[in-house]
Amino acid sequence: MERVTGGGVQSALLLASVGGFLLYRLLGRLRAKAALQDAVVVITGASSGLGKECARVFHGAGARLVLCGRDAGRLQQVVEELITSTRDKKQQTHVPSTVIFDLSDTQLMDRVAEDILKCYGRVDVLINNAGISYRGNILDTQLSVQRDVMETNYFGPVALTQALLPSMVRQHTGHIVVISSVQGKIAIPYRSAYAASKHATQAYFDCLRAEVERYGIFVTVISPGYIRTNLSVNAVTGDGSKYGVVDTTTATGRDPKDVAQAVLKAVRHKSKDVVLAGPLPTAAIYLRTLWPALFFKLMSSRARKEHKPKNT
Ligand SMILES: NC(=O)c1ccc[n+]([C@@H]2O[C@H](COP(=O)([O-])OP(=O)(O)OC[C@H]3O[C@@H](n4cnc5c(N)ncnc54)[C@H](OP(=O)(O)O)[C@@H]3O)[C@@H](O)[C@H]2O)c1
Repeated sequence: MERVTGGGVQSALLLASVGGFLLYRLLGRLRAKAALQDAVVVITGASSGLGKECARVFHGAGARLVLCGRDAGRLQQVVEELITSTRDKKQQTHVPSTVIFDLSDTQLMDRVAEDILKCYGRVDVLINNAGISYRGNILDTQLSVQRDVMETNYFGPVALTQALLPSMVRQHTGHIVVISSVQGKIAIPYRSAYAASKHATQAYFDCLRAEVERYGIFVTVISPGYIRTNLSVNAVTGDGSKYGVVDTTTATGRDPKDVAQAVLKAVRHKSKDVVLAGPLPTAAIYLRTLWPALFFKLMSSRARKEHKPKNT
C-alpha cells in the first residue's frame, strides 16, 4: 500500500476544494440560466434601441415577454423579428405579448398593470427601460419641459413599478430593473432635466431595494454611459421641440447588444447596482464623491466650452 505523505494530503485537499468551488460556480450558472426559461419579463421601451435588444436576449433565454411602448406597429415588427430570429434554434421560446401605453400618462398605470398581468397571470422581471433625453440651457428651458422629462423618466417607471409591486409581494418573488444612466450619478451641463430625472430614479429604486428585499424582490439599477441608439435624436430641447441630432458621443457609444447582454447578466446575478461605463466616466463618479470641488470646477469649465445657443 502506498504511503500518503502530509504534502500529498494537502494537495488532494486543495484539488478537492478547487474542484468543489468550480462545480458550485457551474451549478450556480446553470441554475441562473434555467431561471429565465418561461419567466415573465416585462420590458418598457421595447420598440427600439436598448429595449429592443433586451427583448432579443430575454426572448433567446426562453422568457415569456410582455413588450411595451406607444407604437403598436413598431412593437409588432419587433415581435415578428424575434419569432423569425429564433425559429431554427433549439431553445424553447415564446411568442411575445404587447401592451401599448404612454408611460407619461401615470393615471393609467393601474389599468396598464391589469393588462400586463392578464398576459401571463404574473410578472417575474420588470425592466423599466423606456426613457427620453434632453439637450438645453437651463436659462432657456421651459418648466413644462423639465416636468415632461420627469413624467416619462421618473414618474412613469415609479407608477408602473408601484402598480405591479403588490402582485410581486403576493407571489413573494420578483425582480425590478431600471435603466438609469451615468447621469444618474453625476450631473453634466446642458442635461439638467435628464440628469435630474435619472438622479431621482437612482434614489427611488435604492429606497425600494431596501424596502422590498424582505418579500424576496430584487432591485437592480443599471447606469450605462453612451449607447449607440436614437436617444439623442429623440431628445427634447428647452422649448419642447425635438433635438433631432445624432451626437458624436451617442454615435460612438456602446453597442446596445452588449448592454443588453450586461442587463441579462445583472438579472441572472441579481446585481444591485451596475455601472457600464469607461474609465473616464467611472473616475468622474468617484471624483464627485471624493473631491467634489474639483469635479464642480471641471463641470464649469466644460459648460463654458460647450455654451449652447438658445434652445439647442
Ligand atoms: N443611449 C444612451 O446613450 C443611453 C445612455 C444611458 C442610459 N440610457 C437609457 O436607456 C434607456 C433606453 O433608451 P435608448 O437609448 O434605447 O433610446 P431610444 O432608442 O430612443 O428608445 C427609447 C424607448 O423609450 C420609449 N419611450 C419614450 N417615451 C415613452 C413614453 N412616454 N411612453 C412609453 N414609451 C416611451 C420609446 O418607445 P416609442 O417611442 O416607440 O413609444 C423607445 O422604445 C433610456 O432609459 C435611456 O435614458 C441611454
